[in-house]
Amino acid sequence: MNTPKRYTITAALPYTNGPVHIGHLAGVYVPADIYARFQRIRGNDVAYICGSDEHGVPITIKAKKEGVTPQQVVDKYHAMIKASFKEFGISFDNYSRTSAKIHHETASEFFKKLYNDGKFIEETNQQLYDAEANQFLADRFVVGTCPKCGFEESYGDQCENCGTSHNATDLINPKSAITGNTPSLKETKHWFLPLDQYESFLKEWILEGHKEDWKPNVYGQVKSWVDDGLRPRAVTRDLDWGIPVPVEGGEGKVLYVWFDAPIGYISSTKEWAAEKGIDWEPYWKDKDTKLLHFIGKDNIVFHCIIFPSMLKAEGSYVLPENVPANEFLNLEGNKISTSKNWAVWLHEYLEDFPDKQDVLRYTLTANAPESKDNDFTWKDFQARNNNELVAIFGNFINRVVVLTNKYYEGQVPSPATFTDVDEDTLALLKKYPQIISKSIERYRFREALVELMNLARMGNKYLADEEPWKVIKSDPERVQTILFVALQIASGLAILCEPFLPFTAKKLNSILHYSTLDTIATWDEIKTANSLIPAGHQIGKGELLFTKIEDLEVQQQLDKLQASKQANEAANKIVAPQKDTIEFDDFTKLDMRVGTILEATKVPKTKKLLQLKVDVGIDTRMIVSGIAESFSPEEIIGQRVTVLCNLAPRKLRGVESQGMILMTDTPDGKLAFIEPENDSVSNGEQVS
Ligand code: 2FM
Ligand code: ZN
Repeated sequence: MNTPKRYTITAALPYTNGPVHIGHLAGVYVPADIYARFQRIRGNDVAYICGSDEHGVPITIKAKKEGVTPQQVVDKYHAMIKASFKEFGISFDNYSRTSAKIHHETASEFFKKLYNDGKFIEETNQQLYDAEANQFLADRFVVGTCPKCGFEESYGDQCENCGTSHNATDLINPKSAITGNTPSLKETKHWFLPLDQYESFLKEWILEGHKEDWKPNVYGQVKSWVDDGLRPRAVTRDLDWGIPVPVEGGEGKVLYVWFDAPIGYISSTKEWAAEKGIDWEPYWKDKDTKLLHFIGKDNIVFHCIIFPSMLKAEGSYVLPENVPANEFLNLEGNKISTSKNWAVWLHEYLEDFPDKQDVLRYTLTANAPESKDNDFTWKDFQARNNNELVAIFGNFINRVVVLTNKYYEGQVPSPATFTDVDEDTLALLKKYPQIISKSIERYRFREALVELMNLARMGNKYLADEEPWKVIKSDPERVQTILFVALQIASGLAILCEPFLPFTAKKLNSILHYSTLDTIATWDEIKTANSLIPAGHQIGKGELLFTKIEDLEVQQQLDKLQASKQANEAANKIVAPQKDTIEFDDFTKLDMRVGTILEATKVPKTKKLLQLKVDVGIDTRMIVSGIAESFSPEEIIGQRVTVLCNLAPRKLRGVESQGMILMTDTPDGKLAFIEPENDSVSNGEQVS
């Protein structure tokens, strides 16, 4: 065993203005959890740290919208988020919150230290101001065009499109998110961290020092910002929700949320250490500590440029050894969106799949957005469960356990003579800890999971090739060896799957009666142990590790997504105001009749127009209609329609249209026909 190393592993503090969804889990918390569990199993000293990010403008906006206080908003979501993480087995050593006293104190002290050491620039300048709302417009209180990429809905501090972090005054055509007004400029004093002074430090530390070991997506972003040149960034705000600026002249101002949030990692570590009665400082200040920040790509600038510059300015902290940021997870082909309710919320998932936490952990890891954005689909979720977890992992374990019970009343048999195949299989099993470790240590969790499943595949192949169920009749002694070998693989899987599938590991340990073993091999001991589960050991009865997910369950999830999207669209839909009143006589002038489309062809060289032959009872006439983006010509032959017949004929692209088909809009932006509900209505019947 190597000397244990100390790891401080942080996972981005989630904003506390809503529940957490699968995108959070896939991007940050599952990979960080796999890493933390892996390091613990290997005997290292781990502090896996997180907490709720409870300051910042989004929380104030949410509170305003709901007519409650920001504290009420964060209390509600902090409890919910904390519970979701626990339910999914995210094994934080501490989950704190930035409204905690210890955090306010830690962040204030940090600010004061930098202030006293002269690390800030104090400057009075013009900031965006909304006179109607009587408020300065910081961060998400202002929206405008990104000066870098031209995205029109960039926030004051960061553009969600290109990831650039900027000052609110850099926005082109800014608008207040509170009133929609164009802001004015008003003088105010703030403290700035002169990032330009840290450029050479960042160049040397990241661009020269971490070219090889940091992920290309992270390294590339940092390089582009540093190459563009860094500018001083304000670390205080004119807001009333946050940590008060603790120095003279700071009255009525708070710390910028991105100044206080990463300090939340430190205060959460302090809280944890105090509870354990240990010293927190080595976890942040000992040069041998490995500090790792697990985050999503939108947080890269804060964790690779701003926070390290703060730590450097303070002077006594270690810098992160790596920042393995992930890209984003999409859902069924679209960006996950809280405001559009296009998400799979963790608390809702658990209502529908109460014992399938590991299935989601598995799917999200297998499909993790490690180097590019990726898509979660319910079909893939079902396939991963049915074709991999059930058919490979679960099937192997089930066969081993059932056969051991059937032939040996659950006792691990003594092996007789090992064949070359047995020896090779056991030798390969010993290699797996190393194979999987290598991938995890390089933050390649997808690859590591494939290797874990390869071990289960190896077990299945071994059983399929050795066929103990056939051999039992002719050579029972041989079967003892086969099942002994298979049980070693099952045991190896129980140990090696824990970081990825902790609930499964627990279940498997209980099936194998691990707690009654005198010694359980550790991850590293798999390499050398003579056996992982000894002959004579009594295992338990078979129990399915995974169960199939039916088509119906997947369809229900897809329907639920569509329904919530439509409900959301309906709630947000702006219904056109009523038109001016008309007299009854005006209405009777309209000759609207039921008809049937007989023929349909595209009007050449147009995108929207179809040329329709319609039987309107009086006659069969040509009507040109702008419906080609919603319907193909073939699918509307025989379609019942409502036609405005006495509209003056007009030529559209050279074709005379003798009437108009009445249409309406669907929530997804397509068109729908207005048709009689009863099929017996004849063509030519009037609509009145
Ligand atoms: O993007 C977010 O959700 C932020 N609340 C992450 C903060 S990470 C850290 F620095 F606290
Ligand atoms: Zn941009």
